[in-house]
Amino acid sequence: MKENIALIGFMGSGKTTVGRLLAKQLDMKFVDVDKVIAAQEKKSISDIFQENGEQYFRQKEREIILQESTKNNVVISTGGGAIIDNENIKNLQNTCFIVYLDADVHCIYDRVKNSKHRPLLQNIENLEAHISTLLEKRRFLYEFSSDYKVSIHLESNLYDTVEEIKKIYIDS
Ligand code: S3P
Repeated sequence: MKENIALIGFMGSGKTTVGRLLAKQLDMKFVDVDKVIAAQEKKSISDIFQENGEQYFRQKEREIILQESTKNNVVISTGGGAIIDNENIKNLQNTCFIVYLDADVHCIYDRVKNSKHRPLLQNIENLEAHISTLLEKRRFLYEFSSDYKVSIHLESNLYDTVEEIKKIYIDS
């Protein structure tokens, strides 16, 4: 069994909510990579994107993933784009059992449509089509990087999802 659990998946797939509950139930520490970056930079993710640019954010993301993945007994919730970077995948694979929260497009759209804190989803004319395109571009990386995939739909129950991950992790 790996020391840590990392949750990967598209924006709105539930990584933070699932991760927090999973950590509580497994008596592990919970870390949200975006929250650590925002705290360190003393500004929101949107402001970082706007003022420093996406490259800068990705650099910080890389540093925090390395820092957190080398700790023990943590559940790490990553940002949806973390898997774009090969180094992140390698660092997470070294110490984490990686779970892909595979939420479908309708579910993602429903959860993010009113979100104001996701810079990559602001001012998009057809948001659902945009999500679908970006998800298809990333799907291979989510699948390729993960040890286990859990399907998430609009009607999925949070507690069932956590239970499924818990079982598979303990048996891993
Ligand atoms: C991003 C996802 C966001 C955040 C940033 C970029 C992405 O995290 O890291 O806005 O590229 O998919 P969530 O997946 O937690 O929304």
